[in-house]
Amino acid sequence: MGRRYALFGHPVAHSLSPRIHAAFAEQAGVDMDYTAIDTEDLDAALAAFDGDGANITLPHKERAAALCASLSARARRCGVVNTLVRADGGWHGDNTDGLGLVRDLTDRHRLDLRGRRTLLLGAGGGARGVAPALLDAGIAELFIVNRTAARSDALADVLGEPGRVHPRYFDDLPALGEFDLVVNATSATRHGELPKLPISLAGRRTTAVDLSYGEAAIPFLAWARAANAREAIDGLGMLVEQAAESFALWHGIRPDTGAVFAQLQAHAISLVSAD
Ligand code: ATR
Repeated sequence: MGRRYALFGHPVAHSLSPRIHAAFAEQAGVDMDYTAIDTEDLDAALAAFDGDGANITLPHKERAAALCASLSARARRCGVVNTLVRADGGWHGDNTDGLGLVRDLTDRHRLDLRGRRTLLLGAGGGARGVAPALLDAGIAELFIVNRTAARSDALADVLGEPGRVHPRYFDDLPALGEFDLVVNATSATRHGELPKLPISLAGRRTTAVDLSYGEAAIPFLAWARAANAREAIDGLGMLVEQAAESFALWHGIRPDTGAVFAQLQAHAISLVSAD
């Protein structure tokens, strides 16, 4: 029998991950099984799972970090885990979301992130996963704005670069000027509501990115276009890239993501963000 992998989250019914990993496995000639497991109790579900590795999605990324016997340096830095690898003595946790986002922006969209003045909206699991990778990719300043100030303060503290990382309030947004990169990592639009964003945040040099894809990304990308942003990019490419990084951790082969991305993008609007 082949190796066994699963995605744990709630909800996961609409997840694209099983399709993406099946395509990667076929391409790489790897015999593996990858299923989506809907659970509200990660501890119990993982205890009952005897597979070789897993992906973790909403709302369990923080809990997964706490359950791991060891963490990669980048997972330790952001405190959230999206990939588990079975190791002697328990799970090894890693986070491929940040690298997935950076790969999508730099490889697929050919963007140079260095020196970009960046605004990160949100300070939850998604934001925490991508913030370290954005800093490592060489962005200039990182402004973090979150509805609950304690969380943006905590994320800024963890990132530990006070001269470069600035927590701010939503009320500060009109005074912050224009950004080169605006990343929406809030889950607000998954519930159909976009926080009020002044169009002064974006201009002709701005790349706007939503970590969601499909319908959930529409309000933010529409805002970006109305604000004359240069590019408005959804999270579908990041989803495929983070999956490829997880696949590489499990199998030692990094799949070619181009064909899989093109296939998903062909009917992207009907997709529901779920990973
Ligand atoms: P995820 O893993 O997707 O980041 P999360 O950890 O629950 O999920 O975080 C959700 C993020 O979206 C948080 O930054 C949250 O803000 P709070 O920390 O204040 O809860 C943000 N968010 C959710 N709904 C929002 C809304 N209606 N307006 C603004 N921010 C919102």
